[in-house]
Amino acid sequence: MSKISEITTTFFAYLKRPDLYPELRRKIWKNIFNRSSGLRGKEEAELWCKNLAVSEKDFIQNILKIDFVPFENIFGKEYNDALSAQEKAPIKMGGAGSLSVIYYINEYAKAQNSIETGVAYGWSSFAALASLVKRNGTLYSSDMPYILQNQSEDFVGCVIPQQYKRNWKLFRFADKESLPRIFEKQDSFDVVHYDSDKTYDGRMWAYRILWDKLKKGGVFMSDDVGDNAAFKDYCEQNNRKVHIIEFDGKYAGVIIKE
Ligand SMILES: C[S@@+](CC[C@H](N)C(=O)[O-])C[C@H]1O[C@@H](n2cnc3c(N)ncnc32)[C@H](O)[C@@H]1O
Repeated sequence: MSKISEITTTFFAYLKRPDLYPELRRKIWKNIFNRSSGLRGKEEAELWCKNLAVSEKDFIQNILKIDFVPFENIFGKEYNDALSAQEKAPIKMGGAGSLSVIYYINEYAKAQNSIETGVAYGWSSFAALASLVKRNGTLYSSDMPYILQNQSEDFVGCVIPQQYKRNWKLFRFADKESLPRIFEKQDSFDVVHYDSDKTYDGRMWAYRILWDKLKKGGVFMSDDVGDNAAFKDYCEQNNRKVHIIEFDGKYAGVIIKE
């Protein structure tokens, strides 16, 4: 698809979705005035991550002080069912980060209420819920549909085991609309996992708000923090003690709220 026809198709896809008009306005603004926000400071961020990074196993054992057994080994049957559900889905969506880190930060925080942004197939939701259901806790998720894929909404969360879904509340808007709606239902969280709008400005906006909603002793996680300098700048500006975890050639950032 050429750039012009992609822009036109995206624009008309948004027009069919009044609930996403605020996001359409922001996208138009960003594309005219702020095009560099996705990759701002990528080189320095990658170097910073590389210098700090540890493996998921080291993070879980040395920082969380929990014996590491890979998530896929603990939940083998559910994991294989999830892989089949993903294979059957007719559309392609964003992939998973470290399921073990997501599962174990929920275990560490003995989470009762967790919030995540960005669901897609639902791998991260599956990992968080695997811990939350033990305490009958709740996962609040914000996810905006893939606007160019008609059926995408039917497959959001398709890998989440059916028996976990009663502990899951999904808000299908852009974060700027979803988060206020979520906070009306639940105002503080034990775990935050950010994996949606990866632009510099999108992250900065959400990090500040989500941090304030995180309880003391809770855990804050953001995926793909090497993509631009937002997480690095946020941590430096606010003096946060950060852990960087390398997984599958990408970096996740974790902060424990003291
Ligand atoms: C990388 S995928 C999430 C992957 C998921 N966390 C997992 O582990 O399987 C990113 C998701 O965020 C959604 N998204 C992107 N920008 C968003 C925004 N501004 N508000 C809400 N969701 C957004 C995308 O539509 C997509 O479903």
